[in-house]
Amino acid sequence: MRIDILTLFPEMFESPLNYSILKRAQEQGLVAIAVTNIRDFAADRYRKVDDKPYGGGPGMVMMPGPVFDCFEHVAKLAPPEGLCRGRPALEARAGCPRHGRVILLTPQGTPFNQSKARELAQEDRLILIAGRYEGFDERIRVGLNAEQISIGDYILNGGELAAMVIVDAVVRLLPGALGDEDSAKSDSFSVGANDDLPLLEYPHYTRPEVFRGLKVPDILLSGDHAKIAQWRREQSLERTRQWRPDLLERGDREKGG
Ligand code: ADE
Repeated sequence: MRIDILTLFPEMFESPLNYSILKRAQEQGLVAIAVTNIRDFAADRYRKVDDKPYGGGPGMVMMPGPVFDCFEHVAKLAPPEGLCRGRPALEARAGCPRHGRVILLTPQGTPFNQSKARELAQEDRLILIAGRYEGFDERIRVGLNAEQISIGDYILNGGELAAMVIVDAVVRLLPGALGDEDSAKSDSFSVGANDDLPLLEYPHYTRPEVFRGLKVPDILLSGDHAKIAQWRREQSLERTRQWRPDLLERGDREKGG
């Protein structure tokens, strides 16, 4: 997979992309992540990328020119060799533009969740565009045929953190990105992703057996794997009921219940 991030603050990505699973996935060649500065495509000597909104009102709006030029530059870059292993060349895929999916990060977007992460992890290529100021000139969304994603119902100072959240959630789903393939499957929200309800995770314990008077539940020390599996399932259900009852209701609705 290749992920391009278009932003006015490329430095913000240096640290999150260079640790742990994201770093390893890039080193292993599972994903190439490139960050490009939209300001480098500004047309004037002041490197202007925003302007006042037509019709008046507060704040500044991101101009379409620099974003389009930046996008067109990035879209031409081919995914590095080997990143589409086992798949037809991107250019040759009917109905699949060479640049893959284009996503604007904005609070107006479709809410991001685990099923969207799974969907995006199937793509060969993503282009994420992080906005600043009051938002994007509408012609950016229309002209680039971009979808919009929000990471939650709150306003961030820009789309950069949202882009990082998406990259993190997507890359860990790429086959081979996690040391233990199973650990992604049993994560909260991924349990029984097909026809089961999404549940929160059961509680985890590690050594020591007693910590400041708090003991690991006996069942986990019993060696009875069937009983342990049943206990964990019950714990998952109970926690979901207590902390995120909306997930169970949503599951019922999705099942037509
Ligand atoms: N930009 C500003 N706020 C955002 C949000 N909640 N999600 C995605 N992008 C944003």
